[in-house]
Amino acid sequence: MGYTASGVKSALWLSLLHGFLFLIADSGTESPQDHTTMDISSRHFRAEFLQEWQGSPDAPYFDPSTPRNITGLVGHPVRLLCRVKNLQNRTVSWVRHRDIHLLTVGRYTYTSDQRFEAQHKPRSEEWALRIRSPQRRDSGQYECQISTTPPIGHAVFLNIVEPETIISSGPELFLQAGSTINLTCTVRHTPEPPSSITWTHGEQVINFDSARGGISLVTEKGLKSTSRLLVQRATGSDAGVYTCGPNNAPPAATRVHVLSGEHPAAMQQGCAKSKLDITTSILCCLITLYILRKPTISNLQFGT
Ligand SMILES: *[C@@H]1O[C@H](CO)[C@@H](O)[C@H](O)[C@H]1NC(C)=O
Ligand SMILES: *[C@@H]1O[C@H](CO)[C@@H](O)[C@H](O)[C@H]1NC(C)=O
Ligand SMILES: *[C@@H]1O[C@H](CO)[C@@H](O)[C@H](O)[C@H]1NC(C)=O
Repeated sequence: MGYTASGVKSALWLSLLHGFLFLIADSGTESPQDHTTMDISSRHFRAEFLQEWQGSPDAPYFDPSTPRNITGLVGHPVRLLCRVKNLQNRTVSWVRHRDIHLLTVGRYTYTSDQRFEAQHKPRSEEWALRIRSPQRRDSGQYECQISTTPPIGHAVFLNIVEPETIISSGPELFLQAGSTINLTCTVRHTPEPPSSITWTHGEQVINFDSARGGISLVTEKGLKSTSRLLVQRATGSDAGVYTCGPNNAPPAATRVHVLSGEHPAAMQQGCAKSKLDITTSILCCLITLYILRKPTISNLQFGT
């Protein structure tokens, strides 16, 4: 019952909203074409209204192939596409949900933001919204609407991404002297795969002919590019900041700490990893157990 009532309420609210947008669309017109559209819509309002409420087989609908989720790159033109069947003399509009802003009506662009543009080829079923230089803030929900009574809409989610570089070990890596430094750098959301990914250690560019042997680099390029740096038998002089620098994305860095065998405690957390002698380990675990149990006991006391 509650569900149905709220469903009806939100349906009513949506129709009101759509009606409102349709009104803005009509009142905002300046070109003669739009006046014609308005005349037609008022003359045929009654006919359309009755026709649509009877679920006419030639009522307009969205082609199911209309994409629902579009990913674009910052600064690169992106097109939100709407494919409509049986449009006849209805109008297709694009609305931005964030601020309920009417962006396009038919072939006309209604926003002062010069980056937006309505695109439609005569007699085609495609009504596109083009954003010339999208920014991160343009991400969000948009809706393609058909001016039926009540209007029907198709939501499209736009996701604007930026080139991104990530080193999987995070900002810091702790390892024991003698082990292998294994760093994986991933580059995503670039217009094309990076032509180069350069690793540096401090100020020094890492390459194969360096005096330090035991270095290998494997780079795979694609939609997502990765570069793996392996430095075998790490010593204290291998510690420091490693930077992964793709040519077409921001760099990422990680600080490597090489721990000499004598001070393992610096990287240990908890008893499981401890290399202390067994008695100390047991003691450590017992203390942990006691600490873990304590709140339970006090909770019980509090409860009774
Ligand atoms: C849309 O696609 C992006 C990237 O392909 C994905 O991260 C996101 O979860 C998708 N969103 C929806 C609502 O499907
Ligand atoms: C479209 O408009 C014409 C007249 O301009 C009218 O004859 C026709 O019925 C309208 N179509 C629909 C589906 O309303
Ligand atoms: C390096 O780490 C990755 C996972 O992060 C792993 O798949 C790979 O086998 C490691 N390579 C070496 C040589 O340890």
